Amino acid sequence: MKMNPQDFVAMKGCKPIPMLTAYTCPVARSVEEAKVPVILVGDTVGMVEMGFDSTRDVTIEHMEYHIGAVRRGAKKTHIIGDLPYGTDVDPETAFINAQRLMQAGADSVKLEGPNIEVIEHLVKRSIPVVGHTGLLPQTAKNFKQVGRSGEEAKRIMEEAQSIENAGAFMVVLEHIPYSLAGEITEALFIPTIGIGAGPDCDGQVLVINDALGLGDYWPPFSKQYAYVSKTVLKVANEFSAEVESMKFPSNIIQFTGSNRS
Ligand code: KIV
Repeated sequence: MKMNPQDFVAMKGCKPIPMLTAYTCPVARSVEEAKVPVILVGDTVGMVEMGFDSTRDVTIEHMEYHIGAVRRGAKKTHIIGDLPYGTDVDPETAFINAQRLMQAGADSVKLEGPNIEVIEHLVKRSIPVVGHTGLLPQTAKNFKQVGRSGEEAKRIMEEAQSIENAGAFMVVLEHIPYSLAGEITEALFIPTIGIGAGPDCDGQVLVINDALGLGDYWPPFSKQYAYVSKTVLKVANEFSAEVESMKFPSNIIQFTGSNRS
């Protein structure tokens, strides 16, 4: 059963919420099979899949393409679609772009920062919204932790509260001190999902490529559960050597049992 925003709010304080990003159909299929209740099609796709230096290069068309692929792989999982940089500049522009992501297969949209008017506008028009505060990659100058000074911590707490008051049903807290994430989690009624924000959030999200070890850079707060880049290298090396030595294809192996004709 696909989970809706109210289900996630009801999980707060009862059961931690796991969330993974996904960008492709086969990965989404496995994430759904693992019963992860929510997939984020994040604009991190630009950096971890498309080779851009920043998420700012991601367009609404890119997001539609990846959300469509993820939806085809995960038909029963709640999908959050990220509104990319510049697509939520004003409430009506954000509404038009959020509708595009929903039509592509998203169940809700995420946007960065305390864009209160936009959140209110979308929620009033029945588009469920996930907020995002702390480190905001679309506008950050660097990827350092934020919220260390008392003043910054106060601002982030206030942002999280205003995101909740505007009607968001969940909020991502990115790369902030663990104690601050704990305080925000306690102060809010909606669930907080941490990334680099410590164990006291209501849930945790990881960028799937970081978790898979598929890439060449992993943020210090991510955890690698596998080393897929190494597997790709091994397969490419073996295949190349076998073609060169004429070991593959052999006339013994026949593709008869496969689902491809
Ligand atoms: O775009 C994304 O994948 C995100 C996560 C880092 C939370 O916003």
